[in-house]
Amino acid sequence: MQSAVLLVTLCFAGICCQQLCDYPPSDWCSTWEIAKSCKVEQQCIEYYSRTKKDIKTSKEPAVQVELYYESLCGGCRSTLVLQLFPTWLMLNEIMNVTLVPYGNAQEKNVSGKWEFTCQHGPNECYVNTIEACVMYHLQDIESYFPVIFCIELSANMTSALEPVSKVN
Ligand SMILES: *[C@@H]1O[C@H](CO)[C@@H](O)[C@H](O)[C@H]1NC(C)=O
Ligand SMILES: *[C@@H]1O[C@H](CO)[C@@H](O)[C@H](O)[C@H]1NC(C)=O
Ligand SMILES: *[C@@H]1O[C@H](CO)[C@@H](O)[C@H](O)[C@H]1NC(C)=O
Repeated sequence: MQSAVLLVTLCFAGICCQQLCDYPPSDWCSTWEIAKSCKVEQQCIEYYSRTKKDIKTSKEPAVQVELYYESLCGGCRSTLVLQLFPTWLMLNEIMNVTLVPYGNAQEKNVSGKWEFTCQHGPNECYVNTIEACVMYHLQDIESYFPVIFCIELSANMTSALEPVSKVN
C-alpha cells in the first residue's frame, strides 16, 4: 500500500514518465510517438533536418571513440550492444569508432613464440581472434560493426561464429 502511494506521488512529480521510454536509442527517431514518449522530438527534428551532406562537410573533426573490450565480458558486451552500436548507427558521420577486441589480454614471448592469455579463458582468445579477423578482412567499419554487434549480441557465441567462419 505504501509503495502504491509512493508510486502515485512519483507519477505526479513526473518521474514515472521517464520510464515510459523503454526504447533503445536507435529507435528514438523512428516514429513520432516514440520520439514524444522519449522526449526527444526537438533532437529528432534537428537530426532529420540536417542532411548527411551538411554533416560530412562540417569542418569539425570526428569524435574519436576507441573501445578496448573483452569479447566474452558481460559489461563490455552490453556497452557495445546497447550503447556504442545504437549511438554509432545514428551518429556515424561524426564519429570515428575503433574497436579493439584485446581488453585484459596478456602476451608472453615463450622462446620466440607469442602466447596469449585472456581473462575469460581460451574461448575468449578465440572469439577475440575471430573478431579481429573479421575487421581485418572487411576493412570498413560500416561492413564489420554490424557483424561484431551480432556476435556480441548472441547468447551462444560459438554457434554465432559458425556462419561467420563460413564467409571467406
Ligand atoms: C580514426 O581513428 C584511427 C585510430 O583509432 C586513426 O588512425 C584515423 O586516422 C582516424 N580517422 C579519422 C578520420 O579521424
Ligand atoms: C622473443 O624471445 C626470443 C628468444 O626467446 C628472442 O630471440 C626474441 O627477440 C624475442 N622477441 C621479442 C619481440 O621480444
Ligand atoms: C553453443 O553452441 C555450440 C555449437 O552450436 C554447442 O555445441 C554448445 O553446446 C552451445 N553452448 C551452450 C552453452 O549452449
